[in-house]
Amino acid sequence: MINKLIDIVKEAGSLFKEGYNSEKLIEFKGGKDLVTQYDKEIEKLLIQRCSSFFKDFNIIAEESQNNTGEFGNSIIIDPIDGTTNFVNRVPHCAISIGVYKEKKSYIGIVYNPILNELYSAKAGEGAYLNGKLIHVSSDENFQTSLISTGFPYTGATNKNDLDWVIKNLQRILPKCQDIRRLGSASIDLCMVANGVYEGYYEINLKPWDVSAGILILEEAGGKVTNSHNLKYDMFNDRCTVASNGKIHDKLISYLED
Ligand code: IPD
Ligand code: CA
Ligand code: CA
Repeated sequence: MINKLIDIVKEAGSLFKEGYNSEKLIEFKGGKDLVTQYDKEIEKLLIQRCSSFFKDFNIIAEESQNNTGEFGNSIIIDPIDGTTNFVNRVPHCAISIGVYKEKKSYIGIVYNPILNELYSAKAGEGAYLNGKLIHVSSDENFQTSLISTGFPYTGATNKNDLDWVIKNLQRILPKCQDIRRLGSASIDLCMVANGVYEGYYEINLKPWDVSAGILILEEAGGKVTNSHNLKYDMFNDRCTVASNGKIHDKLISYLED
């Protein structure tokens, strides 16, 4: 299944690259939340291919099937994770596909066609970047840790969410090496998996933002929890905390709900 999925994301990657370099039709789903015709077309192609090859799975997809079907044996798709980057030609954007069997992570693929970076993992078999095994960093020191985060779209309208972002930047920035906000949650998780970042946190992520990256990070030796350091539930938890495992407790202790 993983090889077929890689063929499918590579096929969708051609459309992604074409769109990245073209004029786009932009619609707003919310104050800040963009969607282009390429989000919809890439998603359509991915759904068509996945439903014809993997008939035992239902599909949950951001733009068209985001509240259909029971989560169980499921393929969860984000056709473009990092649409704001895609629209502005910032090369941090990706196709993310997470496959679940009986609600357990089975396969994760995050493909950035612009930088030609394909992260993949299958449960129990390690995590890979372009076919090479990757591993989280071994840094245990929070002060030298590079941390990534994201700013939820809801911060435009929800003062609590904006306050959460500012408050936690104030708390964490002085204590770590620095903070990055590159604009694609799936790639953020993969960059922790690849040892680039030591940690990552964000609120209000959706299952399609993280469905693939969680497995890739765990298979690379990392950890994902909610802000109470408990097992992360991508459907219900407000806060996602990810790390190399070594700085996890510190990151949790500095975060304030
Ligand atoms: C977004 C990106 C971004 C994160 C947002 C997500 P989208 O996904 O992952 O990094 O900060 O919360 O919604 O909208 O580009 O698919
Ligand atoms: Ca997304
Ligand atoms: Ca998206």
